[in-house]
Amino acid sequence: MDAIEAITTRRVVRAFAPDPVESDKLRQIINAGRHAMSARNLQPWRFVVVYDHDRIREIGTLCSTGKFVTDAPSVVVVLKDSSNTRWGDIDCAQAVQNMATAAWSLGLGTCWVGNFDGPSIARILEVPAPWVIFTILAFGYPSPANPPQTRPLKPLREIVYYERWGQQQPPHS
Ligand SMILES: Cc1cc2nc3c(=O)[nH]c(=O)nc-3n(C[C@H](O)[C@H](O)[C@H](O)COP(=O)(O)O)c2cc1C
Repeated sequence: MDAIEAITTRRVVRAFAPDPVESDKLRQIINAGRHAMSARNLQPWRFVVVYDHDRIREIGTLCSTGKFVTDAPSVVVVLKDSSNTRWGDIDCAQAVQNMATAAWSLGLGTCWVGNFDGPSIARILEVPAPWVIFTILAFGYPSPANPPQTRPLKPLREIVYYERWGQQQPPHS
């Protein structure tokens, strides 16, 4: 699968097959995150890989909009350097997107969790300041019984203009 296909076919995965995720694949995914752009190349991220099912379940119960984490075969908790206030969120978001795309290209899926009890998860993982929980990414093979859904995308003509706002025709069409 090339980069364009991975980017354009990727869907969030919230239901996982029970199969474990190979550690080599998880390593490739995290390596893709490591290659994200970051302002001033500060790389204000750390990644905690969690395979232990009890720990995954405990983390999942703390994800108010990500209960699916509970049943995932593996989890990567993305940590952000909270002293990097200007661009830290954006840098970490780019790492997340790289990881989601890489996972998809390897046949795996994930879904961003936006709401969670960060301090409690940080306590479980013994995360020291200034690191904070940025998000929790569950990784697994998509459940065949509950495959990822397609979602409506705004059409290109609605979101792209040429030369000036509102001009929907390219100059040389
Ligand atoms: C910043 C952000 C936060 C999100 N938070 C959640 C969440 O808390 N729970 C969830 O199930 N999905 C969450 N999502 C996933 C979006 O719902 C999903 O990306 C969107 O519906 C489009 O689907 P697609 O990624 O399959 O194209 C989040 C996505 C982003 C980018």
